Amino acid sequence: EKGGWSSFMAKEVSEQPDAVANTLRGRITAEQVVVPELTEFGDDVLAGVRRIVIIACGTAAYAGQTAKYAIEKWAQVPVDVELSHEFRYRDPVLSDDTLVVSISQSGETMDTLMAVKYAMSLGAKTISICNTQGATIPRESDAVIYTHAGPEVAVASTKAFVAQITALYLFALHLARVRGSLSAAEQATQVAELQSIPEKIATVLGVEDEVRQLAHRMSHTRAVLFLGRHVGFPIALEGALKLKELAYIHAEGFAAGELKHGPIALIEPGQPVFVVVPSPRGSAHLHPKVVSNIQEIRARGARIIAIAELGDAAVLPFADTVIHIPLAAPLFEPLLAVVPLQMFAMELAIAKGLDVDQPRNLAKSVTVE
Ligand code: F6R
Repeated sequence: EKGGWSSFMAKEVSEQPDAVANTLRGRITAEQVVVPELTEFGDDVLAGVRRIVIIACGTAAYAGQTAKYAIEKWAQVPVDVELSHEFRYRDPVLSDDTLVVSISQSGETMDTLMAVKYAMSLGAKTISICNTQGATIPRESDAVIYTHAGPEVAVASTKAFVAQITALYLFALHLARVRGSLSAAEQATQVAELQSIPEKIATVLGVEDEVRQLAHRMSHTRAVLFLGRHVGFPIALEGALKLKELAYIHAEGFAAGELKHGPIALIEPGQPVFVVVPSPRGSAHLHPKVVSNIQEIRARGARIIAIAELGDAAVLPFADTVIHIPLAAPLFEPLLAVVPLQMFAMELAIAKGLDVDQPRNLAKSVTVE
């Protein structure tokens, strides 16, 4: 039931604070992460993991790409993120100290299911991150961490995405605790950051009117570029995917550092570019680099829409529009920065008179190859 909302998507975007809070529930004890579903693995098994391979498709794969930064930093295990359909049709090298983590909202995506089965046949242990109780992928896996986003009806994934990142961060912190790669104090700091996210997402939801007006002004736009760096990079990819699937607008996400290796040639006067700007405090080394990217493309006529931390004065002179997000530690910014991008795609689709719950040619769960 839409319960007063104009679409399931609008409802699900607004439910993101709860999606995160419900996914955290029961998995934090005394400022430490203990995911009960992982205890059956045995700490010795998790401590012995030498490599993690994440497999997923679409938005779920971007959740994986985002979590790679946190898993490597906190648990100090190398992570590869693979698209399920690419993974299963080559000869991946896996061993029994590789942990394969699949991510699927539906738990029924055929390519991801087949990739999990393939990984198991090669001897890897598998964990599923899934939003649907009792779905096929979690049933086939050695363990499952459910995201508790609640049923996601709109075809475009929104609340499941933030819940997936949350579950992956819990996984990373559980792993870090078992492996001793993070001190108790550092673990407690990350836990506090996680616990602060629902309220911060609720704050971001307040940019709705601003984003709607922006989308209305841009309803005739033919192409939009998205730039991000570090964890902002997968968010740029996700912003572009949302815009393609909902508003049928050509959109591309780039790592900001790649600009001069090709994409900057696309910049012509009037080209809209969303830039996910890292925090000037938390990412003091990256922030000036992204600001200088903004200056470079602005000089070539780009129209800049910056998603930036509240109080970031450095972007103001160069951006046509700044959408503010609250302060958060760098690894947690994606959970905030993605929200205006989801809203923008939704509002642009609405401005074009499109059905945001059922975009053309797409199905909610892709049970064929
Ligand atoms: C995009 C979207 C898709 C899914 C992908 C994986 O908004 O919804 O890209 O994320 O098809 O689906 P699941 O997570 O069900 O495996």
